[in-house]
Amino acid sequence: MTILVTGGAGFIGSNFVLDWLKASDEPVVTLDALTYAGNLENLSSLDGDARHSFVKGDICDGALVAKLLAEHRPRALVHFAAESHVDRSISGPGAFMRTNIEGTYTLLEAARAYWSELDGAAKAAFRFHHVSTDEVYGSLGADDTPFAETKTYEPNSPYSASKAASDHLVRAWHHTYGLPVLTTNCSNNYGPLHFPEKLIPLMIVNALAGKPLPIYGDGQNVRDWLYVTDHASAIRAVLAGGQVGEVYNIGGWNEMTNLDIVHTVCSLLDELRPDAAGSYKRLITYVKDRPGHDRRYAIDARKIERELGWRPAETFATGIRKTVQWYLANPDWVSRVQSGAYRDWVAQQYSA
Ligand code: NAD
Ligand code: TYD
Repeated sequence: MTILVTGGAGFIGSNFVLDWLKASDEPVVTLDALTYAGNLENLSSLDGDARHSFVKGDICDGALVAKLLAEHRPRALVHFAAESHVDRSISGPGAFMRTNIEGTYTLLEAARAYWSELDGAAKAAFRFHHVSTDEVYGSLGADDTPFAETKTYEPNSPYSASKAASDHLVRAWHHTYGLPVLTTNCSNNYGPLHFPEKLIPLMIVNALAGKPLPIYGDGQNVRDWLYVTDHASAIRAVLAGGQVGEVYNIGGWNEMTNLDIVHTVCSLLDELRPDAAGSYKRLITYVKDRPGHDRRYAIDARKIERELGWRPAETFATGIRKTVQWYLANPDWVSRVQSGAYRDWVAQQYSA
């Protein structure tokens, strides 16, 4: 048996693939376009591992996806590939509409054609697992109850609107065509291999470089943070035991303001890599707020716990310490990502 993973060279996808092959020998085929956010180096520990194959390609390329399904006959498709950064979606929404909406549509159609030709047992076992976000639900007030799976969709950014559209397509392909889908909506992830344009890795790499730590608005926006390998284990649990057509919210039971996050990162760096100039907190700088900035996200993760017995293994204290330690131990990864050197390598690698 095999699974096909889209977006497996990105932050969460690569953590998922590495985690999957640690936990089982079931082969993985990774399909990734290697955009600015995709980094083959994330998967370099799998070089020469017969259980993993990598295909550079676009999820909007229906012929390629059909060919991969026909060749590898996967029992599941786990769909991570997306444009994922809210700030980029504000300055350039087009790529988000293409990859997140058209790309998901293309995968659904290719998966439907493949699945409809499968025979009894393989057909019943096949799963299309769509990886989505809590941002589709909109913004909570301070006293609102956390997002349950029944919450109405109220996306506020081009990113979250494109993910909401993809969730609706996945739902429709199940209801209309019977495609056996699973959808998970997860809160903010953090951990190793996180591209340093997102809050936590940006604060770590800027602090180490003595650069300002930019806090949008008043720093009181709240997110519910989950360590990335806990997201991977939740997806495995849903893939193994989730009810077809159902949605599962995944969260860390860990709401924190952005300012508290940045203070925690600074305190860990003060302990692990003290700076003679003083606490890294001196670098905190308040900047203009993000347009349409959602105030609060919080996940009610009781359904996945009740039905599938999943709970996060890491607390924020353990996860953030591992994360900071990983960035301290991997300055070369950071500098190659920042310099774009890995992209030059990919261009060279694929020029033949
Ligand atoms: P990421 O930006 O780090 O990685 C995205 C990956 O998709 C990259 O490897 C990129 O090369 C690839 N990709 C982009 N466009 C593609 C295309 N057209 N064809 C093939 N590959 C393409 O994103 P991430 O943070 O790892 O997020 C992965 C998924 O999880 C996304 O669907 C995102 O919406 C969802 N999610 C993310 C978070 C989070 O906190 N980062 C939280 C919940 C859900
Ligand atoms: P981000 O990591 O972009 O995730 P998302 O917006 O998808 O939740 O941002 C997390 C929070 O941190 C969000 O409230 C925006 C804020 N933020 C800053 O204050 N400064 C920054 O430089 C960045 C990138 C984010």
